[in-house]
Amino acid sequence: MSRVLCRLTDIPDGEGKEFDLERGGEDDEIFVVRRGDRIFGYVNSCPHVGTPLNWVEDRFMTSDKTLIMCATHGACFRIADGHCVAGPCVGESLRSISTVVRDGEAMLDKDKGRGDQS
Ligand code: FES
Repeated sequence: MSRVLCRLTDIPDGEGKEFDLERGGEDDEIFVVRRGDRIFGYVNSCPHVGTPLNWVEDRFMTSDKTLIMCATHGACFRIADGHCVAGPCVGESLRSISTVVRDGEAMLDKDKGRGDQS
C-alpha cells in the first residue's frame, strides 16, 4: 500500500519538502526532492553526525539546485542516489525512501525499497 505525501506541484521543481511520518522511531523525518516529474525521498538525517540536513523549513538544496546540501557542515549529496560527493562524509549516502509519482501525487511506495512506510 502506498501513502500520499502531497501533490507533486506542492514541491517546487528543483526543491525539497520535508514530511513527518508520525510513526514513532528514528525514521520519522523524511524529505523529498523534485526534479521535473520525478521525486527522490530520503531520511532527513545526515550520515556525518545524524543531524537533520536543513536548518530552514524545506531548504535542502545548493544554490544552483544540483545537489542536496547539509546545512550543518556542508556535505553535498547527489539527488538521484543520495551519495555524498563533497564534505566530511564523502562516500557515504543518505538513507533512501522509496517514492513514486502517481496521478500527480507524490507518494511513499511501500511496494519497493525499504517497504516499511505504513
Ligand atoms: S552533519 Fe551533515 S555535514 Fe556534518
